[in-house]
Amino acid sequence: MSLITVDQANRVFHLHNQTLSYIFAVEQGGTLSHLYFGGHVDHYHGELRYPRVDRGFSGNLPGSTDRTFSRDTLPKEYSTAGEMDYHLPAAIVRHTDGANALFLVYQGYRIEAGKPKLSGLPAAFVEDETEAETLTIVLVDQVSQVEFDLQYTIYRDRPVVTRSVQVCNQGDHAVNLEKVASMQIDFTDRQFETITLPGAHANERHPERGSINYGIQTFGSLRGTSSHQMNPFLALVDHTTTEFSGDAYGFNLVYSGNHAFELEKDQLDQLHLMVGINSYNFNWQLKAGATFQTPEVLMVYTNKGLNAMSQAYHHLIRERVVRSEFKNQERPIVVNNWEATFFDFNEAKLKPIVDEAKQLGIEMFVLDDGWFGHRDDDNSSLGDWQVDHRKFPQGLNHFVKYVHEQGLKFGIWLEPEMISYDSKLYQQHPDYLMQVPGRSPSPSRNQYILDLGRQAVRNNIFDQLDQLLKSKQIDYIKWDMNRHLSDIYSVALPPERQGEVYHRYVLGLYELLERLTTAYPHILFEGCSGGGGRFDAGMAYYMPQIWASDNTDAVARLTIQYGTSLAYPISLATAHVSVSPNQQTGRETSMSTRSAVAASGVLGYELDLTQLSSADKQIVQKQVVQYKQIRPLIQFGEFYRLKSPITSNQAAWMFVSPQQDEAIVMVFNLTSYAQPSLTKTKLVGLNPKLNYQNIATKAIFGGDELMQLGFYDPVVYQDYTTKVYHFRAVTEN
Ligand code: GLA
Repeated sequence: MSLITVDQANRVFHLHNQTLSYIFAVEQGGTLSHLYFGGHVDHYHGELRYPRVDRGFSGNLPGSTDRTFSRDTLPKEYSTAGEMDYHLPAAIVRHTDGANALFLVYQGYRIEAGKPKLSGLPAAFVEDETEAETLTIVLVDQVSQVEFDLQYTIYRDRPVVTRSVQVCNQGDHAVNLEKVASMQIDFTDRQFETITLPGAHANERHPERGSINYGIQTFGSLRGTSSHQMNPFLALVDHTTTEFSGDAYGFNLVYSGNHAFELEKDQLDQLHLMVGINSYNFNWQLKAGATFQTPEVLMVYTNKGLNAMSQAYHHLIRERVVRSEFKNQERPIVVNNWEATFFDFNEAKLKPIVDEAKQLGIEMFVLDDGWFGHRDDDNSSLGDWQVDHRKFPQGLNHFVKYVHEQGLKFGIWLEPEMISYDSKLYQQHPDYLMQVPGRSPSPSRNQYILDLGRQAVRNNIFDQLDQLLKSKQIDYIKWDMNRHLSDIYSVALPPERQGEVYHRYVLGLYELLERLTTAYPHILFEGCSGGGGRFDAGMAYYMPQIWASDNTDAVARLTIQYGTSLAYPISLATAHVSVSPNQQTGRETSMSTRSAVAASGVLGYELDLTQLSSADKQIVQKQVVQYKQIRPLIQFGEFYRLKSPITSNQAAWMFVSPQQDEAIVMVFNLTSYAQPSLTKTKLVGLNPKLNYQNIATKAIFGGDELMQLGFYDPVVYQDYTTKVYHFRAVTEN
């Protein structure tokens, strides 16, 4: 079955699969009019058109006497500055005469099987041409011959449409792109709420549900990265939408730099949403004949609530955004030495941690920050990716060999985008860091940003990393980025092109990652940016897992991991058990609660294993054995949020196997009270016709019983307790 239907006579385009329909038409003046995005429509006859009304102060098409058609009121697919639309434009193009007029007119379309790659940018892909179809709508400004190709891909078996835009300058003169959103969508007669994922360093992705008022509202980042502060994801939901019912529209931008999700509710209660690169300090010179590709937006629609939206993202990102050969592999349980030693270590001090890790069944040792240059604190050596012989007198290989001999894999921390003043790299190339001529660059964590937009800088870093990687048996890289961009300037670009620096940085980063992951496909990459400061689908394309937060406190992590799961799969989020009291919050939690929270993601340990009490060692050993048993279920099962730590005194979630024959349920109690109210946990996602046995108690429940009646949570007089249930299907009813 074709996924894209074109009604040639009425010039209507209908993208459809079993779940959704996305419909737009060409209207007067070659204007693309958005008609519908929602549940699948089978018998569509094209009757719905935007009513013609003469509205004051909303002008009409040039040369037309029809006062009832206005690009200002019409819901559209893409608006530009200078076309008599008073909304925020999706694109602004500045011409050599200084004008920013652009009037895009429909020219034609192309349909192709599958999904083409986006040049220079990460994006969702297909493994087989029959999985998706791509529609390209060509819009052209007749005067300048600047062409906008709107790209839409619909997947056959996913509730997903992806969108991006390619701008081609077919004219004779260079133009400047001052803004190019990846998509626009306009809704009429809908009263949505927003769900976003704001946060802070060590406090990332706390879901926030907000109302949409008249005017313009922007959720975005100006930090040069996707940021801890506002993840590049937004959902539009109805007031009545819950986890398990109602409309949910998700928009997830596959991009790791400045982004903007702009909403405008207008005078007619119409809603206008644009998603793309933030236009702040963006100005791209597009020469005659050149093209510019925007990043891609992953749109999901479901009428089954937020859980279904999240599951669509979990599958899409895990299966068709992450490229690594590790995408379907169970991830190793690591021990990382950061919170165990910080910078104060050497080979002799690390070996006992490795020995202990082996005893406990841990599978990888990760050597964190401080192994290179002469880095005894965070003031030096970034840019010098050679081992510190004071800490490893016999070289790094000697230690790597030791780790491997214990049967563990070896991982290493890198922060390749940075430079310290106190480094050999800075002595050799003081021009490599981003700085504005005549001004002192601003330090952050006493470090500076390398200008990754420059090929020479990328080559230097690639060569250093290549040297390190080709001579060592390194199994894993933790790729960190511990500050945000400032001093936006590149000596490689003329003054009039400095508005390209932010985006060129991201493109440079992607190119470097492309080279490295291609040269070293057998290395497992973990993304990190002071925890989850760059937790986005762009990084997921190169790195199948990302350190979710520098905050390892189990209670804080409940909200962070809960929020993360809205838009990202469990296999992407790494989570470590660390010491109690926690180093970030001072909170004390039991080993079992810390273990359960970390086991709700890609489990690891981040503490000095040699300092554990023997009781805790036993718990860890048992936990490691248990995690290995349930690891496929956790990392690749269907994930359901049951109770929110934001709106209740509990958090609960569950993981169900694809065959629905096994489930892990975790219920976390937060603050303890005298005379507590009783709470129940009701499960979801099971087969109502199957019987399930609680493996610990041997009690048997019907699937429908667990989902309809649920069970009482035990009453516990203690803060931050956890109950983990493991159910397995036993017989058919
Ligand atoms: C960041 C990371 C930490 C650790 C430190 C090392 O903050 O998120 O996990 O690697 O850097 O400097």
